[in-house]
Amino acid sequence: MCGIVGYIGDQAAVNILIKGLQRLEYRGYDSAGIAVMENEKLAVFKKEGKVANLASQLNGNHLDATIGIGHTRWATHGAPSDKNAHPHISEDGKIALIHNGIIENYLTLKSELTAKGYHFRSETDTEVLVQFIADVHKNSSTSFAKSVQLALQRVVGAYGLVILNVDEPDQLIAVRKGSPLVIGRGSSANYIGSDASPFLEYTNEVTYLNDDEIAVVKRDTITLTNGKRGTLTPYFEHLDLELDAIEKGAFDHFMLKEIFEQPDRLLDCMRGRILAQSGNIKLGGISAYADKVYNAKRLIITACGTSYYAGLTAEYLFEDLCRIPVEVEYASEFRYRNPVLYPDDVLLAISQSGETADTLVAVDQAKASGSTVIGICNVVGSSIARATHEGIYTHAGPEIGVASTKAFTAQLIVLSMLAIKMASERHTIQESFRHQLILELQRVPALVEEVLAHADHIRSIAQKYWLASNFLYLGRGFQYPIAMEGALKLKEISYIHAEGYPAAEMKHGPIALIDAEMPIVVLALKDKAYDKVISNIEEIKSRHGKVIAIISEGDDAMKRQVDDYIEIPAVMEYFAPLVSVVPLQLLAYYIGVIKGCNVDQPRNLAKSVTVE
Ligand code: M6R
Repeated sequence: MCGIVGYIGDQAAVNILIKGLQRLEYRGYDSAGIAVMENEKLAVFKKEGKVANLASQLNGNHLDATIGIGHTRWATHGAPSDKNAHPHISEDGKIALIHNGIIENYLTLKSELTAKGYHFRSETDTEVLVQFIADVHKNSSTSFAKSVQLALQRVVGAYGLVILNVDEPDQLIAVRKGSPLVIGRGSSANYIGSDASPFLEYTNEVTYLNDDEIAVVKRDTITLTNGKRGTLTPYFEHLDLELDAIEKGAFDHFMLKEIFEQPDRLLDCMRGRILAQSGNIKLGGISAYADKVYNAKRLIITACGTSYYAGLTAEYLFEDLCRIPVEVEYASEFRYRNPVLYPDDVLLAISQSGETADTLVAVDQAKASGSTVIGICNVVGSSIARATHEGIYTHAGPEIGVASTKAFTAQLIVLSMLAIKMASERHTIQESFRHQLILELQRVPALVEEVLAHADHIRSIAQKYWLASNFLYLGRGFQYPIAMEGALKLKEISYIHAEGYPAAEMKHGPIALIDAEMPIVVLALKDKAYDKVISNIEEIKSRHGKVIAIISEGDDAMKRQVDDYIEIPAVMEYFAPLVSVVPLQLLAYYIGVIKGCNVDQPRNLAKSVTVE
């Protein structure tokens, strides 16, 4: 969703801000803007559409300014437009503010300000906030930072804010509640971002703001305070991230790069956790809560979108291997349902970004109920990673494409390791079987590599079906969540309507949709459900549907039965989702590309969904 960048130093702020905004494009946005301070005045530029539009409006000017803020906006209050884009400016033209999040009581504040004679140029909650802060500051005799803190006491909602005030021209104010902000410490320069990507090429010494903390960021100093606890010492850490991790390299799109990176990222995810000599699994991230986790009475998995499908896949794994009851919940439903939670429940919160608002609230609720809460996140230092008791990072590296690919398979690897470890701690599997499982899991990266070698063949299938307006995806057992994930990928990337179903459910409704125009992707591997899936395929064929099957390598009988097929190497059923999802990622990707869609930044979507 919205992205934030702030800079103070001795370089041309405009260049750093525009480049930073380009690095934030992956989050999804519809307009962009910057404000810099020049000759003791604010210079503000805002443009609907891409950062490139904004850059051409600036046309290489305003290079003298060395302090400024920039924002990519994903519309919530008011349509995407120049006037609704951030930064928003106070009526006296002195204060510029950028905001991620939502101000829930903005209408109340707006009517109070209107009664005082303030006027508004946009439809946004953010403009109300900047006017409100300006009004509080005008009527108080404290520093600007204190006024911001005072004003925020009246504000209900979530925010990550960066503020520039021409009356205090040597500083940026950064403050957060519920929406992430990270500060980068440079040499004679400091940076602020909604994540580290806009300033990674200048520094990787970072500190993350916590809720209710306010930072006064000057060229050479960073002062951190919290209203209740006074002045704090910022804790800086070294972010282990290289610039090429957030660049496309030789690939046409980030999504393709991330699909092809999977073998390496899966190895990274297992590295140091599967111990070669002993054949044991070591999950250091949950060592303090290990007893609670392994002796849990029940597992509740909560997540959204693709991460939810990782959770659904894990349900099969944990129930089968660990004989533990598992519930998988959309975080957005869980949090509003008054769920029954016990202290011996363990909640697994899965999130690539670690910032998904609903998942974060679900984490807080489960903690408040006394359950143990474990995060499975990709982004190090993210809000969910920090809010949970302990966690396991997926180590997939930054995922820039909006459609989740490598983060999903890395989540599955983490969940697989956790399930094997838990099963062995609970003595629900034999030692020899545990060894077999570990050996098989270690084979997965090479198997994914084999599937990637079929990319050209998958592209040729995409060329055949890209004009279809509907797709159905069917799978059973471990492959049912993968059918849902395959359908989600296609929807996101190509805007083709697609549904994922358990194959047996087809007869209970979706079969009515099948005709000669309808491609149906069937996950038809040689597993427990194989014979049943063959019957489902026959039912489709007798209604003239077109079957694209994901099949086990060498299954010649299946090849003859279907219209098109993609072979995947044999793999234990438990880990087959890790391999079978890859051709579905590629199919969605190629269809999106053939249709001319912006696969890395699909319309209306955001990479991290930080609003409810
Ligand atoms: O960052 P999270 O994993 O919490 O995000 C959850 C969903 O928003 C995300 O998986 C979304 O569905 C992706 N666009 C899927 O490709």
